[in-house]
Amino acid sequence: MSSAISIFGLGYVGSVTAACFAHLGHRVIGVDVNRVKVEMLESGQSPILEARMDEFVAEGRAAGRLHATTDSRAAIHGSDFSFICVGTPSLRSGKLDLSHVEQVSAEIGAALREKKRRHSVVLRSTVLPGTTESFVLPVIEKASGLRAGVGFAVCYNPEFMREGSAVADFLQPPYTILGTSAREEIEPLRQLYERIPGTTIETTVPVAEMVKYVSNTFHALKVVFANEIGTLCKTLGVDTEMVTSIFTSDTKLNIAPNYLSPGFAFGGSCLPKDMRALTHRAKELDLNLPLLEAIVPSNAEHIERAVEMILQTGKTRIAMLGLSFKAATDDLRESPQVRVVKRLLGEGRRIRIWDRNVALGRLVGSNRQYIEEAIPHIGALLCSTLEDVIGDAEVVVVGTSEVSGDTLRQNLKPEQIVIDFVHLENARRPGGNNSYEGICW
Ligand SMILES: NC(=O)c1ccc[n+]([C@@H]2O[C@H](COP(=O)([O-])OP(=O)(O)OC[C@H]3O[C@@H](n4cnc5c(N)ncnc54)[C@H](O)[C@@H]3O)[C@@H](O)[C@H]2O)c1
Repeated sequence: MSSAISIFGLGYVGSVTAACFAHLGHRVIGVDVNRVKVEMLESGQSPILEARMDEFVAEGRAAGRLHATTDSRAAIHGSDFSFICVGTPSLRSGKLDLSHVEQVSAEIGAALREKKRRHSVVLRSTVLPGTTESFVLPVIEKASGLRAGVGFAVCYNPEFMREGSAVADFLQPPYTILGTSAREEIEPLRQLYERIPGTTIETTVPVAEMVKYVSNTFHALKVVFANEIGTLCKTLGVDTEMVTSIFTSDTKLNIAPNYLSPGFAFGGSCLPKDMRALTHRAKELDLNLPLLEAIVPSNAEHIERAVEMILQTGKTRIAMLGLSFKAATDDLRESPQVRVVKRLLGEGRRIRIWDRNVALGRLVGSNRQYIEEAIPHIGALLCSTLEDVIGDAEVVVVGTSEVSGDTLRQNLKPEQIVIDFVHLENARRPGGNNSYEGICW
């Protein structure tokens, strides 16, 4: 089905969106305050330099499906969808400049005041979570005199194209994300994308806004990580390309979702030690590698957040479920859970600890020496029964994934507060009357 679409902003995102929707058979009118860009599109030239754009613009013009104008009112009246693709540059402080988004939203609102047909407004510009619903929507409501969901619908639809391969990325995106507060309203938008392959994900507006930032942040992080690793390799005289090639070929642990689920701090006998060794060597080599150097302090900060969360409950009796740095091990070396217990003891909290593996390890002797010599005061807090540990507490800290949902539910009293470090799946969370908080979810 062919739709009529107005696209505000004929920069990279807007021009590509306009040309590609025209290519897919829709009628498109591009709007920009910049007359040069409008005239270029109207004369069949692409306003930006991008592969296949000249071809798509010429095709759209020849078919009579692609136009451009500076008249926003006419564009809105002549379309059913308005895509906002204007720039959201940085102000000097780094704060996002929303003035272009505000201007276009007000223009759309003013035009909707006179428009009889229902209209869908789709924000594509990159904006921080909350912007669409708390900034764009009120501007349109005020200018139009309409209520969102009644006279018009608003959706957030992030763009994942990369300059240089923008057309190909538009036509083959990793996924299409439609952020909405009313799923029934986005059927027409879903239809616009029906010829685009890949999964279409419908979610809330703030989640869609945040996914865009998380993606860009991760891409930036990967670039900086690769460059710091490359710098270190080169200075150490190690073959950067060989290291990268072998490292990226591991799709089980390296290029994989592993370690990307928000949870508790890392610990154990390897990661902390190895991070310290690598950054120490970098310092010896006079290298400044801020990203790699930030890893250990960032991890320590996460442990401190956990401590603060427990202290802020104002409760004194704490049950710690899990003491080793991860499930299925009794290794307590550099366990962040041990660090939390030490901090809480220092703050005068009363702690009892349950950890099946540590208790077993202690019985058979594998971890006995470490507990008795390095942390005897913590060893003394270990109890062998989970029920006793939970039964006595005001706050239950889940620091291991080895606790079943049933066990938790059977043993918790309604007034007990549960703090989750390990990101229990929904089915394993306490539910009922218990107050439940995840450390970062
Ligand atoms: N460039 C990318 O690769 C890319 C990718 C994904 C998302 N984004 C995001 O998309 C948004 C647009 O980025 P861009 O690179 O296309 O920006 P851009 O600066 O290239 O283009 C923005 C266009 O908006 C026009 N404009 C400004 N005010 C207007 C108004 N009131 N009415 C009509 N047009 C107006 C400008 O004249 C300009 O042509 C930004 O939020 C950006 O972060 C960009």
